Amino acid sequence: MFNAHKHLIDISEYTDSEIMTILETAQQFSQVNQRRIKKVPTLKGKTIVNMFNEPSTRTRSSFELAEKRLSADTLNFGGSSTSTVKGESLIDTVETLNSYKIDMVVVRDKNAGAPYIVSQHTPAAVVDAGDGKHQHPTQALLDLYTIWQHKGRIEGLNVGIVGDIAHSRVCGSLIPALKIMGAHVTVVAPGTLLPARPDVLGVDRVSFSLDDVLPDLDVVYMLRIQNERLEGAPFPNLDEYHRLFGLTKQREPLMRPDAIVCHPGPINRGAELDSYMADHPERSAILDQVYAGICVRMAVLYLLLGGADNGLSA
Ligand code: CP
Repeated sequence: MFNAHKHLIDISEYTDSEIMTILETAQQFSQVNQRRIKKVPTLKGKTIVNMFNEPSTRTRSSFELAEKRLSADTLNFGGSSTSTVKGESLIDTVETLNSYKIDMVVVRDKNAGAPYIVSQHTPAAVVDAGDGKHQHPTQALLDLYTIWQHKGRIEGLNVGIVGDIAHSRVCGSLIPALKIMGAHVTVVAPGTLLPARPDVLGVDRVSFSLDDVLPDLDVVYMLRIQNERLEGAPFPNLDEYHRLFGLTKQREPLMRPDAIVCHPGPINRGAELDSYMADHPERSAILDQVYAGICVRMAVLYLLLGGADNGLSA
């Protein structure tokens, strides 16, 4: 099935059954991650370059651990420690790395489209680990996995995505992924944090009031305020944003009894979430999302690189 895909750059290129295969494979790798010895020989002999040209905690650490647990050789590379600071271009950098006969490049970059450019200049497979305001497909997959594990299904769920829609690469992948899997998607934001034409998002509903939509939602997905990508002042101050669009202890009574809270991290506590909701023992799925990251990334690496033996029977 995965012969059709060399890269994971645009989640919209994947069908519902292909996404389900990734989630089911991730569930198998979750068993590996709970063993005493959390390592399988699946990608022995494969070389994966993690090229992170922008900061990351969760994505970078989980890709690296996923690669190690699949027995791949890994090279961590990027940012201010490379010759790009001397003026070397992205294309020359990739062509240099190609000389090592690499099998995959995992790319995080502040520029939208960087993973696609890399894919045009390497024979290796390319995985987008977040590019500018564009896409973050493995984040969307780990979000789907978390929702599926909590709710037992994705199709038909009401998912609300709240906050900085305009600057979010998480939205760029999560909205199409949820729609492919048959969820109903609502976005909630002040007009200044929505695209100029919200209809291009392809969602079922756009709302300017969290209080109006909260009672309908099975999943409340809070987005980080992207301080590093904001231009101008999209809201008067963080206190007002928190009061109008933050998920807080005061708002919890509006939620369905079984509604869960997701957030891609890192959290701005006191802005989009208060600590009561971020750490809520029954509702918060945020650390489950982090765990899903390693399982889903193991599945993606395994499926794209065609591991001959996933080691699950060991
Ligand atoms: N969710 C996410 O991409 O987090 P990091 O930037 O820490 O990788």
